[in-house]
Amino acid sequence: MSSSWVVMKFGGTSVSTVERWETIAGQWDSVIASGRKPFLVCSALSQVSNQLEEALRLAPSGKADGVLEAIEQKHMALCAGLGVSWKEAGVAFMDELRRMVLGVSLVKEVSPRIHARVMATGELVSTRIAHHYLVAGGKQVEWMDARTILRAQSSGHGASRDYLNASCDYQVDPTLQGQIAPLKGVITQGFIASNESGETVLLGRGGSDTSAAYFAAKIEADVCEIWTDVPGLYSANPRMIPDAHLLLKMGYDEAQELASAGAKVLHPRCIAPVRDRDVPLQVRSTQQPKHPGTRIDRIGADSRGQVRAISMKTGITLVSMETLGMWQQVGFLADAFQVFKRNGLSIDLISTSETNVTVSLDIASNAASEEALERVIKELAPICQARTIGPCASVSLVGRHIRGILHRLGNALELFEEHKVHLVSQASNDLNLTFVVEESQANRLIVSLHSRLFESHAASKELGPTWVSSHWNRGEEPWWSKRREELLEVGKREGAAFVYDPVTLRNSAKSLTSLSAVDKIHYSIKANSHPDILRLFHEEGIGFECVSPGEVQRVLDVHPNLDPQRILFTPNFASREEYAFGFERGVRVTVDSDYPLEHWGDIFEGKSFFIRLDPGQGRGHHEHVRTAGDQSKFGIEPAAFDRVAARIRELNAMVSGFHSHAGSGILTPEGWGETAVFQARAAEAFPDVRVLNLGGGLGIVEKPGQSALDLNGVNASLLQFKEAHPDFQIWLEPGRFLVGSAGVLVAEVTQVKTKGDVNYVGLKTGMNSLIRPALYGAYHEIVNLSRLEDSPSWVAHVVGPICETGDTLGYSRPLAKPEEGDILLIGTTGAYGRAMSSHYNLREPATEVLLT
Ligand code: LLP
Repeated sequence: MSSSWVVMKFGGTSVSTVERWETIAGQWDSVIASGRKPFLVCSALSQVSNQLEEALRLAPSGKADGVLEAIEQKHMALCAGLGVSWKEAGVAFMDELRRMVLGVSLVKEVSPRIHARVMATGELVSTRIAHHYLVAGGKQVEWMDARTILRAQSSGHGASRDYLNASCDYQVDPTLQGQIAPLKGVITQGFIASNESGETVLLGRGGSDTSAAYFAAKIEADVCEIWTDVPGLYSANPRMIPDAHLLLKMGYDEAQELASAGAKVLHPRCIAPVRDRDVPLQVRSTQQPKHPGTRIDRIGADSRGQVRAISMKTGITLVSMETLGMWQQVGFLADAFQVFKRNGLSIDLISTSETNVTVSLDIASNAASEEALERVIKELAPICQARTIGPCASVSLVGRHIRGILHRLGNALELFEEHKVHLVSQASNDLNLTFVVEESQANRLIVSLHSRLFESHAASKELGPTWVSSHWNRGEEPWWSKRREELLEVGKREGAAFVYDPVTLRNSAKSLTSLSAVDKIHYSIKANSHPDILRLFHEEGIGFECVSPGEVQRVLDVHPNLDPQRILFTPNFASREEYAFGFERGVRVTVDSDYPLEHWGDIFEGKSFFIRLDPGQGRGHHEHVRTAGDQSKFGIEPAAFDRVAARIRELNAMVSGFHSHAGSGILTPEGWGETAVFQARAAEAFPDVRVLNLGGGLGIVEKPGQSALDLNGVNASLLQFKEAHPDFQIWLEPGRFLVGSAGVLVAEVTQVKTKGDVNYVGLKTGMNSLIRPALYGAYHEIVNLSRLEDSPSWVAHVVGPICETGDTLGYSRPLAKPEEGDILLIGTTGAYGRAMSSHYNLREPATEVLLT
């Protein structure tokens, strides 16, 4: 018999802010009002699991204090916002966490057992804070420890799997049902469970969905709701493709396939428990609680053959096994697969020929896998030549009866002509067709595949609204719509032009110079080096950050009398001559590697300069713009600090400041405060450091669904840092934030055509002016400026005149139907537009006009 419980799982972003907690409390009330009872399953606050992992990584070298401090600060800030006493809700957990980390630093080793206990802290604290908040709001709610309910089974694959990636049984649980029957509501943790000895175990990253499904199955809930930051499952990841459609209904089978193929909204393991007990799963959004979301149940949507979604999984590694011996040999596959089994690695996709077997592994989803992969390669050596290929991404077309509709995919599959495909696999359950390609190609491929597969589906009943239509909530009217007449005139006159608005430029400058925690702002001129913009920012009291002698020269040409100390010179992999140039000009030099110090000591001897530190975790809108971590070419890593400090002493030089830049286009506020904490720790080895330059990277809203960066949040975390570390100055060096929204590209329509089912609008300029869509799959808003009053009901690809298919500025864009001579406007192109333009095809890029 079904109980009247509603299991509601809230993920990291949903439990991290006061606003979201108000939504959760509202949802609680509406469940009660419907005569049912809420059973909340919560994750750790956003980023806390990553920070706990970082603490574990640093603990053996005794360097985790900074991360622990950042974790504590984050929770304290939420408590302050919710009016909850941190002392009552969290201090005990934090003390225990510190003790565990201290233990690790003493024994210098992280066992899976302690790993699980440390990670569990995130969920235990978040639910305690939430419990205090809900009780204070008059709710009758019982806090339960998930470890007393969920019991993990031994996997037989060793401690790492058992403690960090466990599975639990989900039989109907009459005892638990009896225990909660008298209660009015429950809050418990996702992600954690216990083993037979009562020790803490984890359900793997993203395992909170699975926890919710386990609870729903055990208590036979009415429904299991997964509350997240998107309103449901979409035909593609809407953060990448704003024109993706919401899928209103799905079968368990399709949802399982989509989750397994990388759709991050649901964890793949969460379907089976609810499917087996026939509990419907409902995906909903804390940002838009009124949105219907996606319902997943036994029936799902129509069972006709169709592609319902495209999904992508990155971090895929292929293992290619080459052998002549396999030909007509019995048992090669059995021997090879035995090696994977022994090392606990599960294989996703397989393709075979007579001399080669290639399999794909999802290494990124399992921390323990890297070493296991190394062992696999060694152990395979006696039977074949094994090598890894990666990083790759798998791109899957998901839907029922795919085999029966291959003929309809012809147009879409043409795209693979441009992309190297390492492996193709067609699932035996007929629910997916998957291609493994180079990871760096995947974004672009998905954008174009989606446009080809879904452009004619727009009217289907099973597809809900597009992401763009329900999320493009810009707030105030953009500057360009107020200056439309002038922009139309410029477009007509120039054919194609970047147009900049001085009022928006000044406003963005003021919003940064007024941050009370920041001592100096430097404009990263690589985003846009237009001389008038450099003048305007100088008037606003902003300095400059340059990455080449050319950029330094540009600033000096515009401002011949500028104190050179207002210029930061931050080159990467620069030559010896460039550093010499920097010191000669008297600008502030930042050295971003130990090589120059080791090899060109004469240049640095007796000098004062900054060094660039790698903060370890890259951030940003695309992998090409994440500039930290092992895979990035920038900065000096913590392991080298002591050696560099010794070299600085040897050179009688002085490091007066640090610099770090984690990446570009970041919309979450916590990163800069965390970098400050990281740099302050590093300053222990560099006693003269007074300035912490936390880089740029401040993002702007470029597409629907994005929320503006919370500048007050950035400032608050930096103020908190400064309270603890009053001796440091904080500097920032943003580019995009200062100029991005202040610029638009206007261009005249040359041609309008329809080929097959697809409409195209041609413009006088294309990727020669704006390379970002082709290079990063970036999204820029496009409107028909000549017909702003007409409804945007005609859908077309917006293309330029360059001889490449990639010369597409926007795919499947709804526009007021244009005619030759109309002016289209492409938004947020003030940063990295003209600056990255080229003369490709010997076509001049769009000109630049600064309005007055
Ligand atoms: N500081 C350093 C050391 C940088 O490398 C960058 C950008 C910045 C500051 C400024 O970052 P911003 O505040 O603009 O995010 N072409 C890409 C962006 C590349 C950014 C490279 N470095 C794009 O169009 O998105």
